[in-house]
Amino acid sequence: MSTLARIGVAMDAELLADFDAYLERRKYANRSEGFRDLVRDALIGEKTAKSNAPAVGTLTLVYDHHTRSLSEKLTAMQHEHQDLVVSTLHVHLDHHNCLEVLVLRGQAGRIRQLAEGIIATKGVQHGQLTLTTTA
Ligand code: NI
Repeated sequence: MSTLARIGVAMDAELLADFDAYLERRKYANRSEGFRDLVRDALIGEKTAKSNAPAVGTLTLVYDHHTRSLSEKLTAMQHEHQDLVVSTLHVHLDHHNCLEVLVLRGQAGRIRQLAEGIIATKGVQHGQLTLTTTA
């Protein structure tokens, strides 16, 4: 960060109280720290929403590997997009459930499309994509 600029922000007292409670839960030292992080998140979110912007991300999945042909389907989808899939981590959680984390790199729009396809696959119980950027 080069120069520090100061701004004054006016907001509803109730909203500010909620924000302060949020900062306390998150162990922020002060409002400025929390405010900066929210601004960064918003800007990163906007940037990575652009379909051709370069992005990196992780897709976390939980699924029951007993679901008929699900493992094969998920593997096939990853092979079809092997240019996007950097690495995968697989954890056998219990008798039924698997946790899989995919590290993805490429155009944000393509990553999002692949993630949505995987999450929507029958038998995937939960999926969450986190996109970020180095830019
Ligand atoms: Ni497993």
